Amino acid sequence: MAYSVAVTSGKGGVGKTSIAINLGMTLSREGQRVCLLDTDFGLANAHILLGVNPQKTISDLLNNRATMSELPCNGPAGLKLVAGGSGLTDLLKIDENIRNQIIRSTDALCDNLDVLIVDVPAGATDSAIDIIAAADRVLVVLVGEPTSFTDAYTLIKACSLEKNTYHFSVVVNMANNANHAKDTFDRFKNITDRFLDIDLRFAGYLPLSSALRDSIVKRRPIMSDNGKTAETQSFKKLALTISQTPKNETPGLRFLGLK
Ligand SMILES: Nc1ncnc2c1ncn2[C@@H]1O[C@H](COP(=O)(O)OP(=O)(O)OP(=O)(O)O)[C@@H](O)[C@H]1O
Ligand SMILES: [Mg+2]
Repeated sequence: MAYSVAVTSGKGGVGKTSIAINLGMTLSREGQRVCLLDTDFGLANAHILLGVNPQKTISDLLNNRATMSELPCNGPAGLKLVAGGSGLTDLLKIDENIRNQIIRSTDALCDNLDVLIVDVPAGATDSAIDIIAAADRVLVVLVGEPTSFTDAYTLIKACSLEKNTYHFSVVVNMANNANHAKDTFDRFKNITDRFLDIDLRFAGYLPLSSALRDSIVKRRPIMSDNGKTAETQSFKKLALTISQTPKNETPGLRFLGLK
């Protein structure tokens, strides 16, 4: 059955989009039909990282120039992309009705999709919280810095208290090694366990990697190559773990609502 994964962090610049595109390509390489939805409308950049030039974007949907099923364009490794458009500063302030329209319109993708990956904008805004609450699985990108901890905590707390979101997975990015990643997760979980009634799980980690950083500069995602590197192995493990974590089934508007 199709499912949605929101990739989020609270703090900006910690690797959400890099992880969203490579996770999407990994699942696609494994035979899943995967689409990435870029909801970072003001600063949409997934298409840049993927090296594609979409003909249609979310702004065409909102201006009634296209339906959702006309938006997905072809990215590398079979991954589809619904681009958020660029320079749409007016969309930074998109209101709840428009947000709901976008979430509801993903129903049209259900027949041709196994996984919808949603790249969520940074910050614990109403928009980010609504988007996260509409996803089946939530993947929080954490790095070992105090500001990442506080911003991720604020976001998770808001989703838990306002929307009853219960299951959260954490991927530690830019880790030195597996022990460092697990230690970062354990320190964060100590905090959430003290104050929040949630299920927080370790989903894996990505090493601090010059190859990953260079792949962004070259607009050629690291999962374009299927070789056995530390990065590709990490994405494969992450993809497996995510597909096995429990889903949030809170009532209300959901991505792929017709599934
Ligand atoms: N594991 C990593 N190792 C090295 N560099 C990384 C890693 N992950 C991400 N980066 C780099 O960090 C920067 C930010 O990454 P990215 O754009 O994916 O973050 P983001 O969370 O989506 O940012 P924003 O909040 O602006 O949307 C990029 O330059 C990217 O190459
Ligand atoms: Mg991003």
